[in-house]
Amino acid sequence: MDIFEKLLKHLGPIGEHSDRAHGYFAFPKLEGEIGPRMNFRGNEKIVWSLNNYLGLANHPEVRATDAKAAADFGLASPMGARMMSGNTNYHEQLENELSDYMGKEATTLLNYGYQGIMSAIDAIVGRRDVIVYDAECHASILDGLRLHPGKRYVFKHNDMEDFDKQMKRATELAKTNGGGILVVTEGVFGMAGDQGKLKEIAAFKDKYEFRLLVDDAHGFGTMGKTGAGTGEEQGVQDKIDLLFNTFAKSGASIGAFISGEKAIINFLRYNMRSQIFAKSIPLPIVVGHLKRVQLMRQHPEMKAKLWENVNKLQNGLKARGFNIGRTNSPVTPIYLQGDIPEATAMCLDLRENYNIFCSIVVYPVIPKGQIIYRLIPTAAHNDEDIELTLNAFSETKAKLDQKVYEVAEIPMV
Ligand SMILES: Cc1ncc(COP(=O)(O)O)c(C=O)c1O
Repeated sequence: MDIFEKLLKHLGPIGEHSDRAHGYFAFPKLEGEIGPRMNFRGNEKIVWSLNNYLGLANHPEVRATDAKAAADFGLASPMGARMMSGNTNYHEQLENELSDYMGKEATTLLNYGYQGIMSAIDAIVGRRDVIVYDAECHASILDGLRLHPGKRYVFKHNDMEDFDKQMKRATELAKTNGGGILVVTEGVFGMAGDQGKLKEIAAFKDKYEFRLLVDDAHGFGTMGKTGAGTGEEQGVQDKIDLLFNTFAKSGASIGAFISGEKAIINFLRYNMRSQIFAKSIPLPIVVGHLKRVQLMRQHPEMKAKLWENVNKLQNGLKARGFNIGRTNSPVTPIYLQGDIPEATAMCLDLRENYNIFCSIVVYPVIPKGQIIYRLIPTAAHNDEDIELTLNAFSETKAKLDQKVYEVAEIPMV
């Protein structure tokens, strides 16, 4: 049998809609400068689907630094993996500044967040060790777990009773095997926007022996007094043994980093396969990151503006009767009921007639019959963007309730 045959029969849960969705609901092209207003198919839309939380993507100093660094160094430099030939003073300077910002002893850069966290998990655990993780952890963590040759226990999302139960099982097993326990959770869960219970989990350190790895992709730059993240927000930054962050969101760039104790970070530096066997982050990106970190630390007003917009948007939605679930971060989900064709018809109306561009989540990511719109407010949005969006959602929700969007199939665009 040709191995490719099945790929054409089963296109995957999203791929099966590709003939109707491609270019519009999937793989849309947003054009123009990154910001709250961008072009989609020739028309300006108010955009709520970019994790450009602090508005850094189009910040003049960021743009100037990126451009100069690209001209100075070129995109190729340095060639090779960090360990072999791809290290520079700038890479090390960035690591030192990030350690200082995160309040950790040491940091190592990761060329991509996804592979980086997978690889960190892979490097830490062995067959005797046990992983305990939150049920709603990101795909990159789940893929890291798939590399683990030992046992893993999942606890119900943010459920500390279940965490306790799983930790008890994990502790017994680790003892029998002569291994240790790695607990993995997130600072801010990217779909629902609720914070991980870092403080509660950290308190379990009095009861069980474990190390805590936190993925704070959405918390970096947005949470805590200085933007150092959800650990800072909850007053337990020092209890996080390994702190993972990405530049792909607030940092408005690409690449990531992991921070912790010096000896452990050094171990990771020499043992993460995704870094040893892959090219290091190009210099223009590293220099661009230095500028971003400087701005994040020196301009708290960007985070203040983000939160002003978060509160306006979230309070506005709540006042209009929308269910935004349990978010306590900038991530703003709107929970509605409807099937996939209905959801896409509503999304189409929002895009075409109200000029609102936001991400939509449907089955199989969430249960059948549910629709989640996921809005990401940023520091760059203004009151008009928010007001127009609130009105658009009120009107389209009324149409949804009146079954105006009941269609048999995903609309062809
Ligand atoms: C929670 C979380 N972890 C990890 C990643 C992967 O990071 P990156 O985009 O830097 O590969 C993402 C997505 O960006 C994420 O949302």
